[in-house]
Amino acid sequence: MESLHPDVKKILLSKDDIHDIVARMGAQITADYADKNPLIVAVLRGAVVFTADLMREIDCPLAIDFMAVSSYGEGFKSSGVVRIVKDLDTKIEGRNVLIVEDILDSGLTLSYLMRMLENRNPASVEVAAFLVKDVEGNTPAVTPRYVGAHVPDEFIVGYGLDFSERYRNLPYIGILKPEAYKK
Ligand code: XMP
Ligand code: MG
Repeated sequence: MESLHPDVKKILLSKDDIHDIVARMGAQITADYADKNPLIVAVLRGAVVFTADLMREIDCPLAIDFMAVSSYGEGFKSSGVVRIVKDLDTKIEGRNVLIVEDILDSGLTLSYLMRMLENRNPASVEVAAFLVKDVEGNTPAVTPRYVGAHVPDEFIVGYGLDFSERYRNLPYIGILKPEAYKK
């Protein structure tokens, strides 16, 4: 087990757990996209670490591009009103697009993004989410085709996920101690 960062309450997914999950997702995507030359769209910045691992587990031709969005939501919750900070450099008309996200919470960010990309007439748009947050009484606005793992309704950091740009480099997925985001 990795050494635990002092601000992390608990490790949910170790390096080994993550490797197994990403390998499983990569195999599924390889089977589904073998002859589709997918365009992998990584949503900056959180999905960068997952995307870098996932693409190396996909054994078929593919291309990647990046988008950066910022949610107008206050604090931790997204409002569904999304501003494009960096758009794709690739034309997606007729392409099979696979959006890669770090974590799906309400799904509002992704549903906005999917609608925007669908307006550009791609052949398909699907989502691979590394994590889905299970929030009681909440049905996410988007159903990802590929899901890595479910996590509880707490603040999750590591493996690309941040709090205030910190902790992205932790090699595991952990729950942040409330003291760490209240201070
Ligand atoms: P929605 O609600 O639109 O939110 O699905 C998705 C975005 O919110 C961020 N998010 C988190 N980031 N730890 C994080 O580091 C979390 O526990 C967390 N929950 C939501 C994330 O940027 C995601 O794209
Ligand atoms: Mg974030």
